[in-house]
Amino acid sequence: MTEQTWIPEDVDPNRPSIARIYDFYLGGNHNFPADREAAKPVVEMMPELPDIMRVNRAWLRRSVRFLAEAGIRNFLDLGSGIPTVGNVHEIAQAVAPTSRVVYVDNDPVAVAHSREMLAGNDRALMVPGDLRDPAAVLADPEVDRLLLLGLGEPMAVLMSAVLHFVPDDDEAAALVAAYRDALPSGSYLALSHGARREQQAERVGQAAEQYSRTVAPMKLRSLDDIAVLLEGFELVDPGIVYCSQWRPDPEDGPGPTEPLPQICAVARKL
Ligand SMILES: C[S@@+](CC[C@H](N)C(=O)[O-])C[C@H]1O[C@@H](n2cnc3c(N)ncnc32)[C@H](O)[C@@H]1O
Repeated sequence: MTEQTWIPEDVDPNRPSIARIYDFYLGGNHNFPADREAAKPVVEMMPELPDIMRVNRAWLRRSVRFLAEAGIRNFLDLGSGIPTVGNVHEIAQAVAPTSRVVYVDNDPVAVAHSREMLAGNDRALMVPGDLRDPAAVLADPEVDRLLLLGLGEPMAVLMSAVLHFVPDDDEAAALVAAYRDALPSGSYLALSHGARREQQAERVGQAAEQYSRTVAPMKLRSLDDIAVLLEGFELVDPGIVYCSQWRPDPEDGPGPTEPLPQICAVARKL
């Protein structure tokens, strides 16, 4: 580690990262000039991007609160990102202090900063991992422990703003199915995803292409595409909607006049 403990030595600060760019859009300070350079042309094409990220985070808070209030005590947060305001363990443990959270991310800064923040919290921890390898994620001793501690109790898997980084549709569907099959029945999947809309402005597609070229391949999906991914689950009301439409809470302030292109759903394994 360097003096700044959230910067592991093996991080290349010249290569933009998904996690640090997201941190930048959210107004955080765990990002480098290369991240800001890569973020700039994308946000010029899509100035609403920081608002989309904030709406996504607000949905994540509401959905975790909903799950904790529904009795869920074990959370597996895949692609959890760099800690920011209203982290999953803070929301879940505010509802039920016994809630356990395992965070997984493949970004070394997200891992290091999360570990620093979680030191001393014996009910929340961070493990490095690639969600595209469900067998390895599920075999991680901490994830295994989380599943075992629940003793077959329903749990929640969160995939917030991460599945659009799996561009291949078959791979995305296989991943969702692999995590679903590992969960006890009555468990939940909470998912949010960058939206592709029929009447989409050309610049939105261009922004996604620019991001794919300079940061990481990504794919926007439609409401119907997400419905296909969630086959085999029962949708929690209000179903698959834009994030600001999912159980809005006045505490989050006024929503956008037009829904922003970020889709979400909370779904229950039968
Ligand atoms: C846009 S951020 C979302 C962070 C958080 N889930 C949220 O909604 O606020 C996407 C996160 O997913 C992580 N990520 C992307 N691909 C991943 C993969 N294959 N395995 C694990 N994490 C991944 C990135 O490093 C980043 O931290």
